[in-house]
Amino acid sequence: MTNQTTKSTLPFLVKACLGQQLERPPVWLMRQAGRYMKEYRVIRQKTDFLTLCKTPDLAAEVSLQPYHAFGMDAVIMFCDILIPPEAMGLTVTFGNGGPSIDNPVRAVSDIERLVVPDPIQSMGFVTDLLQRLRKALKDDLHTALIGFSGAPWTLATYMIEGGSSKNFAFIKGLMFENPKALHQLLEKIAETVILYLNAQIEAGAQIVQLFDTWAGILEISQYREFVLPYHQKIIDSLKKTGPEGDPVPVILYVNNSRGLLPCLAEAKPTVISLDTTTSITEARAILADTPFGTAGVLQGNIDPVALFSPPEALKPIVQDVLKAGKNTRHIVNLGHGILPPTPPENVTLLVDTVKNSAALF
Ligand code: CP3
Repeated sequence: MTNQTTKSTLPFLVKACLGQQLERPPVWLMRQAGRYMKEYRVIRQKTDFLTLCKTPDLAAEVSLQPYHAFGMDAVIMFCDILIPPEAMGLTVTFGNGGPSIDNPVRAVSDIERLVVPDPIQSMGFVTDLLQRLRKALKDDLHTALIGFSGAPWTLATYMIEGGSSKNFAFIKGLMFENPKALHQLLEKIAETVILYLNAQIEAGAQIVQLFDTWAGILEISQYREFVLPYHQKIIDSLKKTGPEGDPVPVILYVNNSRGLLPCLAEAKPTVISLDTTTSITEARAILADTPFGTAGVLQGNIDPVALFSPPEALKPIVQDVLKAGKNTRHIVNLGHGILPPTPPENVTLLVDTVKNSAALF
């Protein structure tokens, strides 16, 4: 199932990111490639997760699986946010309990040892993957290719905690005891992210998404000190156009962002991706008096757990989000990544409901 359009050379999702009025909102899903798909599990049975990320032909196949199966308006490259920390010098492994870093950053000397890697030399499999995906999509002018990176705060949580965390004791400890050292680390990560995302744009990413999943654990003054300046620096340093001269929008996602939305706006992303705790209507009201204003584009925010519901319960939920987003510059997505128990038929229902929604608009 591919999409064709000859209206303009810009992909549909890029047009939506730029605020153009379209016949319906675009739809794609965070973590749209993954374990809820049988085709993905077949490949994962033979290949461990990191090897999959680092093998461009397999990663390309997996990236395209949801596009072929459901026809989303975008393909997001298959990779993980913990690839750059590995390139900076840490040892990253993925077990059944999630990611783990064997040599976490705990002392100033650990921060000093980290490198700002050359993205092509150390993460060339990512740029190779993007080039392959652009080739695979060359006859499809409709579908956008998305690149991404974790943002400094979220990457620092994994690098310091050594994996996923409940109370973030080590990174908060460093924040309270030695904020200067934490800034030194965040600065190094920000430099890495800038080089990495610019290499992705050069390799063909038409949109980039910055994931700052764990920035929502902070109170506003902490966010202003340890998160916002790095978002600003990254967004200001990204290439504004791709190799063909097309604009490259930036989508910013923070989980639990409700009280922080005005601060997200200050970094001036093209699109703010909402989690499930703020409705689209509420987010519009909160953002009205910020630089994002009423003209900014919002992405989200169907609850990933709603996708476990029977079709008759799910359909009105999707329709409600469509109605809330109607005429307000909206991209349909989830409030967080899709979860492994999701029935694929519900993804079909979601995507088809959005694609058939033109009559609503
Ligand atoms: O959207 C996509 O389809 C692209 C792929 C993608 C993955 N991870 C693949 C993945 C993206 C965009 C990510 C981002 C990511 N990774 C984030 C930020 C977004 C978010 O969800 O908050 C974070 C925090 C991570 C770190 C990470 N990676 C964790 C905590 C885990 C374990 C939890 C889990 O879902 O298993 C991963 C592993 C991971 N990343 C998987 C996938 C498909 C599962 C690996 C497997 O096949 O076992």
